[in-house]
Amino acid sequence: MPSAKDGARVAADVVADVVAHRSCPVLGLATGSSPLGLYAELARRCRSGALHLGSTRAFALDEYVGLRPDHPQSYASVIRDAVVVPLGLDPDLVHVPDGSADDVVGACRAYEQSIQGAGGVDVQILGIGVNGHIGFNEPTSSFASRTRIKTLSPQTRADNARFFDKPGDVPEHCITQGLGTIAEARRLVLLAQGAHKARAVTAMVEGPVSAMCPASALQMHPYATVIVDELAASGLTLSSYYNYVYEHKPPWQRPSSTSQHHSEVSP
Ligand code: F6R
Repeated sequence: MPSAKDGARVAADVVADVVAHRSCPVLGLATGSSPLGLYAELARRCRSGALHLGSTRAFALDEYVGLRPDHPQSYASVIRDAVVVPLGLDPDLVHVPDGSADDVVGACRAYEQSIQGAGGVDVQILGIGVNGHIGFNEPTSSFASRTRIKTLSPQTRADNARFFDKPGDVPEHCITQGLGTIAEARRLVLLAQGAHKARAVTAMVEGPVSAMCPASALQMHPYATVIVDELAASGLTLSSYYNYVYEHKPPWQRPSSTSQHHSEVSP
């Protein structure tokens, strides 16, 4: 896709389509920069009345351990500011792992139970780390993993230092949904932009399924869509084939507001 805006529109079409077919839809939310355009596009559609998310429930992918929910860089704060408020979601229906819990293990277990209690995630929005992580499942995470505490890699802490006053302020640990948890979402939509994501995108889409690239788990998912800009797609060997497949989709598989340039890893 030529721009992040085009990608955001295509991803918003996917979310809108899922929401239209569920009475109480359940969204899975990533934080970070990659989905911000999507959230802005969804907010625009909500404001214009084209999209209604009234009864939507949502579960964030992850949270830093040791930050209270009111810390400005906690994912609870980020989700509130980037998603809950602009999309007009009911805050009581939006869940973020409790990174300040005394019993982190119990909080992880409770989080898994509340996802299951909601009937599972209908559409999980994902970004990808430069080391191939999804959620905060760093390389060598088990494909069977569930919500748990993880140690962030030095690379991830350095990448996320831009959100904090100083690099040392980035927490060392997080709670993240596991790869097994993420894989149970009925649909996955992953967004990536920029040349710094090209290696990870190539490993995810065209590399071997390997715990060294946790995002390669998407290859095993029956309904995963990868939406990338030209820079993030620049390492893909078969990009002309992906464009050909997209251009030749049967009409009933095409998204409603069509952008002509996204690549899809389809079932
Ligand atoms: C955060 C998350 C991470 C990010 C990834 C990319 O909730 O799930 O996997 O998606 O670190 O971050 P950005 O989008 O900031 O490049």
